[in-house]
Amino acid sequence: MRVDFDPQAMPTRDFYKLLTATVVPRPIAWVSTTAADGTDNLAPHSFFTVSCVTPPVVQFTSVGRKDSLRNIEETGQFVVNLATEPLFEQINSTATDFPRGMSEFDAVGLRKEGSCRVKPPRVADSPVALECELHSTVRLGDSTVVFGRVVHAAVSEDVLVDGHPEVTRLRPLTRLGKNEWGTLGEVWEIARIPYTEGRNERPARGDGE
Ligand SMILES: Cc1cc2nc3c(=O)[nH]c(=O)nc-3n(C[C@H](O)[C@H](O)[C@H](O)COP(=O)(O)O)c2cc1C
Repeated sequence: MRVDFDPQAMPTRDFYKLLTATVVPRPIAWVSTTAADGTDNLAPHSFFTVSCVTPPVVQFTSVGRKDSLRNIEETGQFVVNLATEPLFEQINSTATDFPRGMSEFDAVGLRKEGSCRVKPPRVADSPVALECELHSTVRLGDSTVVFGRVVHAAVSEDVLVDGHPEVTRLRPLTRLGKNEWGTLGEVWEIARIPYTEGRNERPARGDGE
């Protein structure tokens, strides 16, 4: 038996809670931006993923019109900083609805460092920063999807093994439903199985060992 939920027949907020509790775990983009007046901003966004390989593009969604979105519209640039376990409480603190004009870096006491290719600063203690130029935005109902072309990636050498980011060193945080957050958990590995004619066919019934 399943329980049915009709998004048309229930409060928007309740369906949103169902969606965010089931589309899990979500990676968290800790997005830094700079307003036209020079104020730096930082906020977590878990509606976040990779959207294109060539060119490299990432996306996040602003639900409503938040400072991060306004700043990106004004300046065309942002940085996605990786949200990691040691930064858990600080990340949550930057989701507070501080007034526009107040920098979360100062309010929360986070160290920033200059980016290579864009004006918004990076979070100094986050091991990965993806510096982005605004590619495009798409309005969807109450939300805006922001696509950013990644023009530079800066990765702490502490998390690299043979030049590659090692996930157990990254210790990424994820967003679940309600006020829940997740950590990495077990890592499984399996090789992709290439198709080989005649060898990947399922055995016919009675054809087994
Ligand atoms: C873990 C986490 C994930 C979040 N994900 C999103 C998101 O994907 N989209 C969004 O609009 N807000 C999201 N929020 C809420 C924003 O971070 C919050 O509204 C913040 O104050 C926005 O800051 P800004 O106005 O400076 O841009 C999230 C909050 C947390 C704690």
